Amino acid sequence: MGGHAEYTCRPEKKVAMKPANMTYEEAAAVPFAALVSLQFLRNKGGIQSGHKVLINGASGGLGTFAVQLAKYFGAEVTGLCSTTNLELVQSIGADRVIDYTKEDFTKEGQSYDIIFDAVGKSSFSKCKSSLSQNGIYLSTVATIPLLLQMLWTSMIGGKKAIFMIAPYRIADLIFLKELIEAGKVKSVIDRCYPLSETAEAHVYVEKGHAKGKVVITL
Ligand SMILES: NC(=O)c1ccc[n+]([C@@H]2O[C@H](COP(=O)([O-])OP(=O)(O)OC[C@H]3O[C@@H](n4cnc5c(N)ncnc54)[C@H](OP(=O)(O)O)[C@@H]3O)[C@@H](O)[C@H]2O)c1
Repeated sequence: MGGHAEYTCRPEKKVAMKPANMTYEEAAAVPFAALVSLQFLRNKGGIQSGHKVLINGASGGLGTFAVQLAKYFGAEVTGLCSTTNLELVQSIGADRVIDYTKEDFTKEGQSYDIIFDAVGKSSFSKCKSSLSQNGIYLSTVATIPLLLQMLWTSMIGGKKAIFMIAPYRIADLIFLKELIEAGKVKSVIDRCYPLSETAEAHVYVEKGHAKGKVVITL
């Protein structure tokens, strides 16, 4: 959130032990991306076993965790990504993958209980017809129309649009540590950069095509 450093001062209640089966690089990829995906899918989406879930941006930092978490919760997962990432998204457990450069999932006639737009590239209006009767569109990126739709859909029954700024909860980090140690979730790391090349790391990520997470090493 605005800087990178070798050390940071945190209150003891704000830290969890690193998963024993991860390298430091793999562990560094977890706290924000996996937490955010968990909170969107479980806390806002109310994900349940048997739910049909579509993840947009399934190959990205949030998306690679979201696919694995949705599978852990027993959902039937469809991942949306471009051609080069189809194999990656399948390898982390997606039941089905759709190449967004070739197919428009909204024209397929499928309906989903949750559409998690991890990269905020779609919209509630576009996804609405692909949501089940009480389906939920979750987006990590706020836009004015989305905030208005969120307000409007919160007042009526049926399909919902939801955005939030995910809170940092240590209990969720501990939950993720347990899932990782049980082999249910892993980090997908695209590249590692040394601290001195942090600017290059940001340039790469901001191009918007990272495959999983980019990590700064020390
Ligand atoms: N609300 C919150 O609390 C919160 C918290 C954290 C992050 N965020 C937001 O979440 C967003 C996603 O973060 P992230 O770290 O997952 O991003 P990221 O890792 O940079 O996402 C990169 C991925 O997005 C995919 N992508 C790019 N354009 C796409 C498109 N048009 N359709 C579908 N997929 C596309 C890319 O796949 P291809 O190369 O295959 O295109 C790539 O794998 C960011 O905007 C961030 O600000 C919000």
